[in-house]
Amino acid sequence: MSNIISGKVLSKEIREEVKVQVEGLKEKFNKVPHLVVILVGDDPASLSYVTAKERACLRAGMKSTLIRKDDSITEEALLALIHELNEDPDVHGILVQLPVPKHIDDNKVINAIKKEKDVDGFHPLNVAAVHLGQEGILPATPKGIMTMLKSTNTEIKGKQALVIGRSNIVGKPAAMLLLKEHATVTIAHSRTTNMKELALKADIIVAAVGRANMVTADMVKEGAIIIDVGVNRVDGKLVGDVDFDAVKEKASFITPVPGGVGPMTIASLLQNTVECFLMIEDK
Ligand code: GUN
Repeated sequence: MSNIISGKVLSKEIREEVKVQVEGLKEKFNKVPHLVVILVGDDPASLSYVTAKERACLRAGMKSTLIRKDDSITEEALLALIHELNEDPDVHGILVQLPVPKHIDDNKVINAIKKEKDVDGFHPLNVAAVHLGQEGILPATPKGIMTMLKSTNTEIKGKQALVIGRSNIVGKPAAMLLLKEHATVTIAHSRTTNMKELALKADIIVAAVGRANMVTADMVKEGAIIIDVGVNRVDGKLVGDVDFDAVKEKASFITPVPGGVGPMTIASLLQNTVECFLMIEDK
């Protein structure tokens, strides 16, 4: 029987901390962090994510603007909008919700955002900083994962960590952050042939593949810590990448879906927005 790491509870604590911090910033700088979120198109899942981000910003006392663009917007026009926001002294964070329509090169979008306003931590200079162990903006989901791991008070140093998934948004940066904490890190992915063997050796598993119930109880070592990043819809119900009910009987700690990593991503985004504000205002 495992302990459940509640992203809901932990993220609420962080959001409260950020709120207090924002009150202090308002006193000191006479302004609050302003996040601008750009949503291209009307994908319902993306819309619900950006609405949640906007609401969290406002609740933390920050300013938030959602700019919605039709999915016919040209790449040139989107890049011009980003450049405009880069130069706007009233804007501290810029987030373009991904994916963008196919006719727009997402790398060009990511590269266009000024590093100091890159609340997602997706700009190559921020990615490089994470890889080099230097100061930089950490991507929100891996940052939230590390906060959850640290909340267990378990030592990460020397542990075997398996990250399943190699996306630029989650898998790769999560692996780098675990490495920074001195874990022995393995990255598995869709072409890995010995997944069960690797999983059974792992003290920490981060599942970020996007396949419902992919991590089953027979793959998990007794006492392992399981972080489930998956968001899959099965028969209208949200489920993660981990077979939660069975795996929780073996894990020492496990994150639920929903109410796990998801809320932590938003809390980390708020922290990143404050960091960007300070980089710009506190020179
Ligand atoms: N789409 C899915 N997750 C994310 C995220 O963390 N940031 C952005 N910009 N788009 C996403």
